Amino acid sequence: MQEANRLKRLPLYLFTIIDDLKEKAISKGVDVIDLGMGSPDLPTPKHIVDELCKQAKVPGNQRYSRPNGKAEMAFKEAIADWYKTRFNVDLDPKEEVLPLVGSKEGISKLYLTFLNHDDIVLVPSPAYPVHFNGVIMSGGILYNIPLSEENGYKPDLTCLSSDIIRMSKILCLGYPHNPTTAVVDLDFFKKVMNWAKDKNIIVTNDLAYSDIVFDGYKAPSILQVKDSKEKAIEFHTLSKSYSMAGWRVGFVVGNKYILKSIAKTKSYMDFGIFRAIQMAAVKALRGDQTPVKKAIEIYRRRRDVFVDGMEKVGWKVHKPKATFYVWAHVPLKYSALTSMEFAKFLVEEAGVVVAPGTGFGEYGEGFVRFALVEPEERLKMALKRIKKVLELEG
Ligand SMILES: Cc1ncc(COP(=O)(O)O)c(C=O)c1O
Repeated sequence: MQEANRLKRLPLYLFTIIDDLKEKAISKGVDVIDLGMGSPDLPTPKHIVDELCKQAKVPGNQRYSRPNGKAEMAFKEAIADWYKTRFNVDLDPKEEVLPLVGSKEGISKLYLTFLNHDDIVLVPSPAYPVHFNGVIMSGGILYNIPLSEENGYKPDLTCLSSDIIRMSKILCLGYPHNPTTAVVDLDFFKKVMNWAKDKNIIVTNDLAYSDIVFDGYKAPSILQVKDSKEKAIEFHTLSKSYSMAGWRVGFVVGNKYILKSIAKTKSYMDFGIFRAIQMAAVKALRGDQTPVKKAIEIYRRRRDVFVDGMEKVGWKVHKPKATFYVWAHVPLKYSALTSMEFAKFLVEEAGVVVAPGTGFGEYGEGFVRFALVEPEERLKMALKRIKKVLELEG
């Protein structure tokens, strides 16, 4: 059986490769410290789990989800209210909010909805994999805009040629940024929307990490820019803020026509989210936010322990203002290795799993990403092992 050409053009999914490496190490008896995938290790807060258990017993919640049912409207209204409280952005819950089976699902369906074979998606690179792989899956054309440390990992949109712009249908941003941890202020989004003003381009921002922020930094929403709803949408997820990655629940908000088209695609391909999960998500957004604050504090302490530890190892990294990642150059001593080879080396020699930069696209090569999703003591152990195998000069 031959896979479709669009699938053949994609390599094996990054974390499928990493899981294989991890399994091999475990089978050799290694106590693997997994800093690969950005899957929160903290448990979902109890009041959310309790709500799921309660709602799962309600027979009406066990039926197919319908777009404007009771549970669905309760979730949409909770999302709109959350945006109002959080960003002072007004959203019509019926038309400007669309629940998703996780934001990854939504981003891939955005592409499926809008891309013809000659449409370009502008994607700053490196990026979260579905931002660029989703373009290939949908048969569109991927155009990487290089991000670099020098430009603060922000794209320079002014250098795009008029031909590229003419063919472009979507610009896919994601700040706070995975994997580089870069952050932006509202002024950045204002400039982007100003650039997009006279162009027929959908502007998206993936705001997955809006809550995982430190040192007083506040992540803006692109919808805070005046009139941005004319062509902007924003993806969000409960996976990170509420440690609900396995629940598969997120949403997209913004331009109602774009959302309506994504909803049309979804109506042919899925039945939405289990109603009990939607009701539990309402509890998450409307309920006690103390667990979110506690989680942020845990990630902040981990960040400090890890970044300080890396300094002592002699591996200099930037201290992130947001996300639970650390983005690091492959050390000079190992620069003959690709990031995948270096990640393999770290699993095999140190029992530490990291994500190779190459998994985040063309401009991720030369880097690795650490996800701080293990407790502090395990992070310290990882640092000890890394120090032992790298023997870098301090
Ligand atoms: C930037 C970004 N967007 C989306 C996702 C996936 O979110 P979800 O679990 O809602 O699909 C992730 C997960 O790591 C992410 O880093």
